Amino acid sequence: MSTARAAVSLRNISKIYPGSKVKAVDNLSLDIPEGQIFTLLGPSGCGKSTTLRMVAGLEAPDEGAIYFDDVPIVLTDKNINLPPEKRNIGMVFQSYAIWPHMTVAQNVGYPLRMRKVPSARIRERVAEVLALVGMAGMEKRPAPLLSGGQQQRIALARAIVTEPRILLLDEPFSNLDAKLREQMRLEVKLLQKRLNITVLFVTHDQIEALSLSDQIALMQSGQIQQQGSSRGLYDAPVNEFVRDFVGKTLLFRGKVQSVGPSGAAIAVDGASACIVSARSHDPGMSAGHEVFLGVRPEDIDVLAASGDSPPPGMVSGRVGAALFMGERIEYHIEVDRQKQISIYGDRHTPFKDGAPVWLKLRPDGHSAWSLNPLEGERYGDAQQVEEARVPGR
Ligand SMILES: Nc1ncnc2c1ncn2[C@@H]1O[C@H](COP(=O)(O)OP(=O)(O)OP(=O)(O)O)[C@@H](O)[C@H]1O
Ligand SMILES: [Mg+2]
Repeated sequence: MSTARAAVSLRNISKIYPGSKVKAVDNLSLDIPEGQIFTLLGPSGCGKSTTLRMVAGLEAPDEGAIYFDDVPIVLTDKNINLPPEKRNIGMVFQSYAIWPHMTVAQNVGYPLRMRKVPSARIRERVAEVLALVGMAGMEKRPAPLLSGGQQQRIALARAIVTEPRILLLDEPFSNLDAKLREQMRLEVKLLQKRLNITVLFVTHDQIEALSLSDQIALMQSGQIQQQGSSRGLYDAPVNEFVRDFVGKTLLFRGKVQSVGPSGAAIAVDGASACIVSARSHDPGMSAGHEVFLGVRPEDIDVLAASGDSPPPGMVSGRVGAALFMGERIEYHIEVDRQKQISIYGDRHTPFKDGAPVWLKLRPDGHSAWSLNPLEGERYGDAQQVEEARVPGR
C-alpha cells in the first residue's frame, strides 16, 4: 500500500438504487492517494460507475462518508452532501459530452466562465491546457469538426482547466478504436505525471487498468475483492475471481509433495519429474492433497520434444491446433493426463498440428488452489471458466 496521503477517502459507502434489491455498492471503503492513478476495475455492473458518481456528487450514497483531504464532502448520518460544483472535480466520461455548438476554446473555457474568471485569463489558461493535451492552436475549431480522439482530448482539457482536486475518468477511451485507445492511455499517464494530479479511473479492461494504475481496486458485486499495485494483483491474486479476472491462468492438476515457508512443492499429474513451487491459497493444504496448479501462460516455454519422457521441470503434450496470429502463434495443446490448454508461442519456431512438445514450467512463482467443483468440470484454461461465470464482461 502507498504511504502517500489520501486525497479522497470513502468510508463504509453503500448505495441501493430505488426499486432494486441488491446493493450497487456495498459497505465500500478506500483511500485514493494524492498524485496517483487509482483504478476501479471489475466486470459490468459491479458498481464502478456508481462509486465514481458518488465521488462526483452525481449520486448520493445511502450510508457512509466521503472526505476530500480529510474535509467531509458527504456524511450521510449528518445529511451533508456537497453538490458537484462545490467539489472541485474534473470529469471525463465515455461519451465525449463536449458541446457541438461551441468552438474548442468555448468548450474548454466553459468551467472558467461559470466561475466568472476574467476573459483574458480564460484565453491564457485555455491555450495552456490545449498545449498539454496536444491540441495547441486549435481554439477556433468548431467542436463537430474534430475526430473522436480529438474530442476526447478536448473533454480532458475541459476537465483539467480548473486544476481540480481530483480527475474522474469513467471508461474515457472505450469509444475510441484500439490504436487510439493505446495512444490516449499513454497520454493520460504522461499528463498525470506532469500535473501530478490525483485520478480516479474506471474501466472493465484489465490491460488498461494494469498499465495505467498506481493502485487497482478490483470490484465484484459492489465490494472490493483485492486492492493493490498492478503487479500485486497479477502476481499474488488473493482468490480465484482475482486470478481469473486479471490476466490468464492455466490450471494443471497436481499433488502436493510438501509445504514449506516459501510455498508448496507440487508435482504435476502425468509428469512425476515436474515439481514446481507455488504459493498456497489454502491454509489447510498439506502433503498428499490433490490441487490445481495455477500457471501464467508466459511462465511456460513450448519446446520440441526430443524423447519419450520429458526431463525434470517439463510436461509433455501434443499440439492440437496452431493458430497463426501474426506476431505470435496460439497453440492448443493436449497435455498428458490434463485438460487442453491454450498458450502462445513465438512465430520463429513454429510447431505443426500434431507435433509432440514439451512444456517447460518456471520452477517457482506459481499458485496452488484447492479443487473447486466448478473448475473441476472445465479446468485447463481458467479464463474459460471465468467467461462462463461472469456475463457481460
Ligand atoms: N440509475 C440506475 N438505476 C437503477 N439501477 C442502476 C442505475 N445505475 C446502475 N444501476 C445498477 O447498479 C449496479 C451497478 O452499476 P454500475 O453502473 O455502477 O456498474 P459498472 O461497474 O459501472 O458497470 P459497467 O462496466 O457496465 O459500466 C448494476 O446492477 C446496475 O444495473
Ligand atoms: Mg460503468
